[in-house]
Amino acid sequence: MYKQLEERDQTRPPVNVSTLMRMKAEGEPIACLTAYDASFARLVDDAGTDVVLVGDSLGMVIQGHDTTVPVTVDDIVYHSRAVARSLRHAFLMADMPFMSFSSAQQALENAVRLMQEGGAMMVKLEGGASQVNIVEHLAGHDIPVCAHLGLRPQSVHKIGGFKVQGRENEQARQMLADARALEAAGADVVLLECVPNEVGKAIRDALNVPVIGIGAGPDVDGQILVLYDVLGITQGPMPRFVKNFMLDSATPIDACAAYVSAVKDRSYPAPEHCFS
Ligand code: KIV
Repeated sequence: MYKQLEERDQTRPPVNVSTLMRMKAEGEPIACLTAYDASFARLVDDAGTDVVLVGDSLGMVIQGHDTTVPVTVDDIVYHSRAVARSLRHAFLMADMPFMSFSSAQQALENAVRLMQEGGAMMVKLEGGASQVNIVEHLAGHDIPVCAHLGLRPQSVHKIGGFKVQGRENEQARQMLADARALEAAGADVVLLECVPNEVGKAIRDALNVPVIGIGAGPDVDGQILVLYDVLGITQGPMPRFVKNFMLDSATPIDACAAYVSAVKDRSYPAPEHCFS
């Protein structure tokens, strides 16, 4: 890891938690993508991506499952390790899979595996107020944490499908309260999935830490998409927020660079990618 850090391109200093806080404060949108292997990780890093997520979406786009539920800690460690070898600039976040953080002790053990074996610099976990003690425990051990709110794909069987969250006032109010509680517990980043624009904006305005959206509208601090959706590899019906950047690009790296610049100049997401 130290060798890898030394070899990073110092003309584009590596992104860290302070960089993300500064970007929020200065209003510079944070461009994030998923990656699952060394070759794509190099490509998204070279394209200027700020944060790379080894998401449990790998269960769907790499392993062919219908949901993220079957993904294990071993799976994330394996893919994260491959991605970590390629990154020179981007900050590496890795997902805590389903049931890998059901107690504070289990969460700590698995987060340590993602960081020590997988090279992750931050772990992401899905959950609302019920995860406050877990976030507090991880933060208390200096583990950077991203709290994932809104649509939580690991809860798909409980929710009854991949549905927009926070459309009802009470649900939106609860999500805002959860976001505040998670920030107070030590979350360094909040990720919001599939919520109406106004919920994205309200949570972004309420928090000091960066809020990254996927289907959360334009008024958040950054955007994230699944790489295979950006490259038009994923087949079948797409969620509204997806944009295939390969359609206007000659090569995969051009498509990733077009995504990064569209996030930075706020031309993505456009109204057709948003929920009301
Ligand atoms: O697993 C994943 O790729 C994610 C993103 C969709 C945010 O959580």
